[in-house]
Amino acid sequence: MFIVIDGPDGSGKSTLSEALAGQLRAQGHSVLHTFEPTDTTETSREIRRYLHCGDSVDPRVLCDLFTKDRAEHVSSVILPHLAQGGVVICDRYKYSAFVYQSSQGVDRDYVIRSNAAFPVPDVTFVLLPSSADVLMRRIARRGKAEEAFERSGFLTRAIEVYRHLPDYFPNEKFVFLDADLPTEQNLSLIEPHLS
Ligand code: TMP
Repeated sequence: MFIVIDGPDGSGKSTLSEALAGQLRAQGHSVLHTFEPTDTTETSREIRRYLHCGDSVDPRVLCDLFTKDRAEHVSSVILPHLAQGGVVICDRYKYSAFVYQSSQGVDRDYVIRSNAAFPVPDVTFVLLPSSADVLMRRIARRGKAEEAFERSGFLTRAIEVYRHLPDYFPNEKFVFLDADLPTEQNLSLIEPHLS
């Protein structure tokens, strides 16, 4: 089973996906918990240089870098684990590209076309907060260096695009979760969608 957890920066994706991975492992599943952008490819290192150093890069070039990293991730990590009958939980996927790169001005159809060949998840859980303020407070609490997209105006736009994902990917399954709820509560909302 291929599960994606997506949502804006600070929405609690990693906490929720780690908790879900733990729960599924306890039930006896072979779970691979992974994320995008990866931290294993040369492309991912290039992406992180742009995200951290504020170097300006053409949004379409950045879009292509995310696609390239995803292609390597899908072929060398995701598909092999699925082929062995395992569960893959992936933090962020092509939906992050759709939301972030289109919010940066890249043509939406271009992002969809670039990602069209990748496997469709069985289900994608999208964590959305009541407002970008919640996200900014969480990001500030982490105390790490700010990344390129961690600004209130950008995240407000991103939240709106996330809400409309089903319009752009009509044949894919999305379940929206409230990022303001405790992890335990979201875990129980996830469970019915996994059978
Ligand atoms: P992370 O904070 O989850 O490691 O992701 C780094 C940033 O990359 C985050 O702000 C979202 C952004 N991103 C994109 O812009 N496009 C993509 O395709 C992906 C996977 C992430």
